[in-house]
Amino acid sequence: MNSLTHPPFDTPIVSFRQVGKHFAVDGGELEAIRDFDLDIREGESIAIVGSSGCGKSTLLRLLVGLDTEFSGEILVDGQPVTGIGSERGIVFQEHRLFPWLSVEQNIALGLANEGLTQAERFRRVEQLVQLVGLDGFQRAYPHQLSGGMAQRVAIARGLVASPRILMLDEPFGALDALTRQQMQDELLAIRERAGITTLLVTHDVEEAIFLADRVVVLEPRPGRIKRIVDIDLPHPRTRASFEFHQLREELLHELTGNGEYRAPPVRVEDLPLAFIAY
Ligand SMILES: Nc1ncnc2c1ncn2[C@@H]1O[C@H](COP(=O)(O)OP(=O)(O)OP(=O)(O)O)[C@@H](O)[C@H]1O
Ligand SMILES: [Mg+2]
Repeated sequence: MNSLTHPPFDTPIVSFRQVGKHFAVDGGELEAIRDFDLDIREGESIAIVGSSGCGKSTLLRLLVGLDTEFSGEILVDGQPVTGIGSERGIVFQEHRLFPWLSVEQNIALGLANEGLTQAERFRRVEQLVQLVGLDGFQRAYPHQLSGGMAQRVAIARGLVASPRILMLDEPFGALDALTRQQMQDELLAIRERAGITTLLVTHDVEEAIFLADRVVVLEPRPGRIKRIVDIDLPHPRTRASFEFHQLREELLHELTGNGEYRAPPVRVEDLPLAFIAY
């Protein structure tokens, strides 16, 4: 079913209700998001696609609780989001590793608010190192890692506090096609094992179809839902299948149909780190 009025779920883990967001810019106001409505089931995988500047990262920042100035409501388990919380993890658009911290120290940052003992912290970080396949690199520094490895560290940091909801903002944007596919497979495996709910922002329509149960297509200025496309294909999905191809065409048409699509900027890895939002 493809519809803006998806039937309500019994117990949504996340509800966006009439969410709107304005930014103050140059003495004026920029309307970044308008009337964003979405219920997400526990365990569901949502992909958000849309042209650059249509509000994808802003939506994730609102759900993770880094920005609490918005209109409407965002509920997690029926409770309004009032700030960050360990049931929500995020992998940022740029991986934002601290260059002066080792792999394990970067991952441990995700546990900063957990009040664990040193031993528990170490055990948890070690589990995540194994999960994302970085054994042997615990003491390496970001400059000693490949792009794919750095992304794994960022994913491990997003997962280390065992969130029930994981948000990923263009997590594989800087990777070559092959590494990207490997990471997509791994994300599927992690989701299956941990049963977590995921919200993935991507500009790659194939990635969205490969991973998501539903793809939310946003349109820009202001960012709002254009369409929600259900992806009813069984896993593992075959990119070469007819159904996959059809969905790809359909989504590309939604994205570029009105000629307004602007691709997100090319990511440059290892940008200087000015700040981290944890
Ligand atoms: N802190 C801010 N102050 C002012 N304007 C902002 C701020 N953050 C985002 N915006 C504006 O809000 C809009 C949405 O930005 P956002 O970063 O959410 O887009 P996006 O969909 O993630 O784009 P991209 O695909 O390029 O990452 C843009 O017009 C942007 O300029
Ligand atoms: Mg963004």
